[in-house]
Amino acid sequence: MQIAICPGSFDPITNGHIDVIERAASIFDKVIIGIAENVTKKPSLGLSDRIELVKNACAHLENVAVESFDCLLVEFAKRNQANIIVRGLRAVSDFEHEFQMAQLNHKLDPSIETMFIMASPKYAYLSSSAVREIAKYGGCLTSMVPENVEIALKKAFSQVKY
Ligand code: PNS
Repeated sequence: MQIAICPGSFDPITNGHIDVIERAASIFDKVIIGIAENVTKKPSLGLSDRIELVKNACAHLENVAVESFDCLLVEFAKRNQANIIVRGLRAVSDFEHEFQMAQLNHKLDPSIETMFIMASPKYAYLSSSAVREIAKYGGCLTSMVPENVEIALKKAFSQVKY
């Protein structure tokens, strides 16, 4: 049984993430979405909201499970008997950071491979940070995120004091 991890901050999950997860789910027997508890920057959405939104977005995928982790990614993969890390790759600008992460993870545990799924062109422009910025200024997020994500972001930003 081939188990893959799709890790990320998912702050928030976007339609681009969902596309990559659906395609990973069609390749591997089981996909575990690993939501990093501690992201470098303070997340806009709390962990429980991020988990809930990812679970809702992936409810139609029978072989996909959602978990959070607060440890090294390779340890999380090992704990879940996964030997593949799947990351989405959008443009050349993603490459340097992704290459470094893949090399570091390989150094930490050579038994775990990182594989990349190329973003669909229709989502190549999409990022969680752009989505957060649009939400912060009240812009329209239709076709970028599921409706409940848009609602959650608007709620989160309406509570922020600048
Ligand atoms: O969605 P993101 O923010 O690009 O995801 C980054 C993430 C969570 C996959 C990465 O920061 C991560 O793997 N964090 C866990 C800690 C770890 O293993 N770090 C060493 C490898 S870079």
